[in-house]
Amino acid sequence: MIKTLQIEDDIRILCGFNLNKNFKPKAEVVMNELKVSPKDRVAFVSGASRGIGRAITIELLEKGAKKVYAGVRNLKALKDLKEEYGDRLVPILVDLRDDKSIIKATRAARDTEILVNNAGVYEPGGFCSDETLDSLATNFEVNVWGLVKMTISMIDYLKLRESAAIVNISSVLGLASMPVAGTYCASKAAVHSITQGLRGELGSSKILVVGVYPGPIDTDMTRELDMEKDTPQNVARNVVKGLEEGKEYIFPDMMSKQVGELYLTEPLTVEKQFANFISEEEEV
Ligand SMILES: NC(=O)c1ccc[n+]([C@@H]2O[C@H](COP(=O)([O-])OP(=O)(O)OC[C@H]3O[C@@H](n4cnc5c(N)ncnc54)[C@H](OP(=O)(O)O)[C@@H]3O)[C@@H](O)[C@H]2O)c1
Repeated sequence: MIKTLQIEDDIRILCGFNLNKNFKPKAEVVMNELKVSPKDRVAFVSGASRGIGRAITIELLEKGAKKVYAGVRNLKALKDLKEEYGDRLVPILVDLRDDKSIIKATRAARDTEILVNNAGVYEPGGFCSDETLDSLATNFEVNVWGLVKMTISMIDYLKLRESAAIVNISSVLGLASMPVAGTYCASKAAVHSITQGLRGELGSSKILVVGVYPGPIDTDMTRELDMEKDTPQNVARNVVKGLEEGKEYIFPDMMSKQVGELYLTEPLTVEKQFANFISEEEEV
């Protein structure tokens, strides 16, 4: 407790302002009035073939989206969903490492109103090895450059809409780093910062800019991770609900809600916990 107060005092001094002692921020902060329901709207989801992207695609369709462009690298991945949703689901080829495919896909999907930047990779690695630069490049190429290129290609179309949304899937690991996944965390921290930057730049527009910060979710990405995980369906439900409520920060699962609460009040405690989490794992 004493340590916590010390940290908070240090932050106040560093920031040069005094927080009201009664100020208790919530993990899910509502910062503007713009609410974007998927009903009768057109969405684009990158990385829709599996995991969280597939679940968000289904949730958008179930919540009444007029059309969802499902960005995939292999059109066959959505054969079953295509049969179920027919013309409302439009599989579209996009590889975030290929500029031409991004331009082609965004031009074809120029009526998009909700852009969900979900596609991502996880390449393990920290900052003290021979593999650091390769691992950093792999994570940044898709998670950061790919996301930015998708957004740049789509932004002029989104600005034409009466209202629109950009949803960026970051991670709790974008808020604090875990040592063995340092380069992935750095890419997700960049996504967090890009989300804030976009929100600032688009502040006077009718575009809601949303950051999503999941904890461990049961997908192919975390197959090797032996710990409690939430479902992609739960993440998808909370992402779409957050959009409907106009939330700019979404902590979509049990673990991320706890981390989000703590992060907003004690970011240094979260950093220490994440660092220790890996050490404890390694000790087992
Ligand atoms: N799972 C978690 O615990 C967790 C937690 C926090 C954040 N996230 C984030 O959530 C997002 C979705 O992750 P997930 O768990 O659903 O992962 P996943 O099951 O591994 O799915 C990754 C998706 O991204 C696509 N993708 C990968 N590289 C691509 C590229 N170069 N171009 C286009 N698409 C590409 C994949 O397409 P293919 O099928 O063609 O490979 C797939 O659809 C990611 O941004 C991830 O960082 C995940």
